Amino acid sequence: GPLTVAVDGPSGSGKSSVSKGVARRLGLAYLDTGAMYRAATWWCLRRGEDLTDQVAVARAVRVMPLVMGLDPSAPTVHVDGTDVGEAIRSTEISTAVSAVATNLDVRAELRRLQRAVIDAERTPEGYAGGRGVVAEGRDITTVVAPDADVRVLLTASEEARLARRSLDVHGTADAAAVEATKDQVLRRDRDDATVSQFHVAADGVVTVDSSDLDLEQTVDAVLAVVTQ
Ligand code: CDP
Repeated sequence: GPLTVAVDGPSGSGKSSVSKGVARRLGLAYLDTGAMYRAATWWCLRRGEDLTDQVAVARAVRVMPLVMGLDPSAPTVHVDGTDVGEAIRSTEISTAVSAVATNLDVRAELRRLQRAVIDAERTPEGYAGGRGVVAEGRDITTVVAPDADVRVLLTASEEARLARRSLDVHGTADAAAVEATKDQVLRRDRDDATVSQFHVAADGVVTVDSSDLDLEQTVDAVLAVVTQ
């Protein structure tokens, strides 16, 4: 039957690359919930919303025309017909996203959309034809899909996470680049942790530590959890 795989983890844990790899190997759809929070942030900023105005931000997110493309080899994000796949990775969005993601009404709305996608992937009409989905984020194993068939918390040492994020953003993991990444990543983790617990595995969630594993090894480690 259809399979739901939930993967949570902090910034730089490698959860996006790993989740895409797992979805490809299993022929499942792929849902990046972080991209949904980033898209919501992009939408609010484009509309000129004051991100500290909780009511205005929640109202804006409720009317956001968001379309998530679920192909793990080429996931897409469109808002109001605009391909925002690149724009949502900007420093501006990375800096602002926690303000939107800590808005509880925004979380309720995006949770509703995320569950709708996960449910749709259990039907033949889904992107993966009813095979299921790998959904990744910060609260998928605990809040969005606590009933998922497989639940994994992907962790890595702070050193490994900063090096990976630095490589993503600056193209290098030399000392200066890591230092430039550090404050932003640690601040975002701290802010995010006020609304979702993603540093400690909840009951029934399997921890996979990727500090000393490369991408392929980490995908294999998660696949081992799926088949166990
Ligand atoms: O860049 P990184 O991979 O660390 O983060 P992301 O997965 O793109 O998520 C961006 C932001 O969205 C996070 O910093 C959280 O503020 C928020 N988020 C969330 O609150 N809940 C989720 N399930 C996923 C992301």
